[in-house]
Amino acid sequence: MSPRLQFQGISKLFPAVRALDGVSFSVGAGEIHGLLGENGAGKSTLLRILSGVYRPTAGSVLIDGKPVTLANPVAARAAGVAMIHQELQQVPRLSVAQNMFLGHPLTRGGMFVARREQERRAAEALAAIDPSINPAAPLGTLKVAQRQIVEIARALLDRARIVAMDEPTSSLTPSEFERLAQVITGLARDGVAVVYVSHKLDEVFGICRRATIMRDGVVVDSVDLKDLSEKAVVAMMVGRELAQEHHTSHASNKVMLSARGLSSATKVRNVSFDLHRGEVLGIAGLVGSGRTELLRLLAGADRATAGTIAIDGKAARFASPRDAIAAGIGLVPEERKREGIVPLRSITSNMALASMGVFASRGVIDHTRLKQVAAEKMSRVNLRPFLLDRPIRLFSGGNQQKAIIGRWLAAGTRILLFDEPTRGIDVGAKAEIYHLIEELAGEGHAVVVVSSELPEVIRLADRVLVMRDGTIAAELDRANLSEQAIAAHAIPQTQTPAAQSARQR
Ligand SMILES: Nc1ncnc2c1ncn2[C@@H]1O[C@H](COP(=O)(O)OP(=O)(O)O)[C@@H](O)[C@H]1O
Ligand SMILES: [Mg+2]
Repeated sequence: MSPRLQFQGISKLFPAVRALDGVSFSVGAGEIHGLLGENGAGKSTLLRILSGVYRPTAGSVLIDGKPVTLANPVAARAAGVAMIHQELQQVPRLSVAQNMFLGHPLTRGGMFVARREQERRAAEALAAIDPSINPAAPLGTLKVAQRQIVEIARALLDRARIVAMDEPTSSLTPSEFERLAQVITGLARDGVAVVYVSHKLDEVFGICRRATIMRDGVVVDSVDLKDLSEKAVVAMMVGRELAQEHHTSHASNKVMLSARGLSSATKVRNVSFDLHRGEVLGIAGLVGSGRTELLRLLAGADRATAGTIAIDGKAARFASPRDAIAAGIGLVPEERKREGIVPLRSITSNMALASMGVFASRGVIDHTRLKQVAAEKMSRVNLRPFLLDRPIRLFSGGNQQKAIIGRWLAAGTRILLFDEPTRGIDVGAKAEIYHLIEELAGEGHAVVVVSSELPEVIRLADRVLVMRDGTIAAELDRANLSEQAIAAHAIPQTQTPAAQSARQR
């Protein structure tokens, strides 16, 4: 018997990028097949080919042994393929039932939408998987997890033979994932072939028996997961064993930045500390404890209402980020997409943003020099792919982050401030960024890292300041560094009942 779904030699070329190169694997009826790979491996491109959004440059898709032409999404759906999108394509103001029949409504006499009948069938499909969802409710009132269930119910209605899911759980809670996992398992029991893309290995190990691992557009292998450890799978995804992570310190006792009694209108209260050449200073604390606000003060993005900052022993006053940049300070923000980059511009022009002065004399830009520096700094941070004219938005999160670091290096920055340096970045790139931070410290930079991931803080920091309520609650050196120690200082002390009632009054 032929497998339900086969990819045979699928390639896809975009201008300047080979997103897929001869991808072949198959998925049986009733199988939940994991599709794993780092950002940029080609997973979404493959699913877009399966769902008729893209046409392959070469190769074919077979369903139940027969080659199919998936010329567009309608054709793919007619061939039995349902795609559960990463960004759900639904209409919030229409009802759940209307959304389930979007694009192909049931009609009476070909004229009027048979609303009642739609609701009845929608209810039937939903009842099979999640009876708590009301088919008449406006879709916009549902949570993301429920909307996904609606998309799956819609696939049931369409009698889909293949369901493809692209990172369906990126915004779900663990219990919502449990529910979704049950629904997916139910689909498979009914003979549907499921292709499940996620970068969360524990999920894939939880619900898939087999998986295909991709890297840089090619299939590394299709494997039985019971034979493999998560670590082995990660090594296949990134193409090497991730080095055992141990901390190396380059901290000196030369003070590069010192803050005394810093306060802001935003959150920061009376913060004092020194930052040394070669040091990686971690800042831990709960969300809302003032960590980001402190970085913004140091980067000149907010004004201090009290206190002083000195760089190399000289008093500094930051009225704007420009002043902080001139003093050698660069911020790598948490919200890369919103604050860090100009998405449509190239790597080179994003790099030049912080250092136009370096490349211009009397208003004329020295393009030769600009290109030279871009090539130098981007190879320093190991940008991949090494395409300096490509719009930055087409790079993975990890490589965007590297480009922002390269930008500060080009600007001659000596003090780097990182806010959540690896948020939304996959495992391989994460390890690279850790090494880069360590190397930069080794080259004499001073680094501040704000992170909510305690293992990350512990991996990187020579010393940790724990913030609570806008101020520094504790300072921990490496000898006293542990998740427990950080948590103990980060969490507000439990209040006595008397203090609580006093506050309520
Ligand atoms: N429309 C597009 N135009 C140009 N390049 C693209 C396009 N879509 C994806 N790519 C590139 O193809 C490669 C694979 O991307 P993608 O399939 O999104 O990977 P994944 O889903 O595994 O993260 C990446 O290098 C990406 O930048
Ligand atoms: Mg993707």
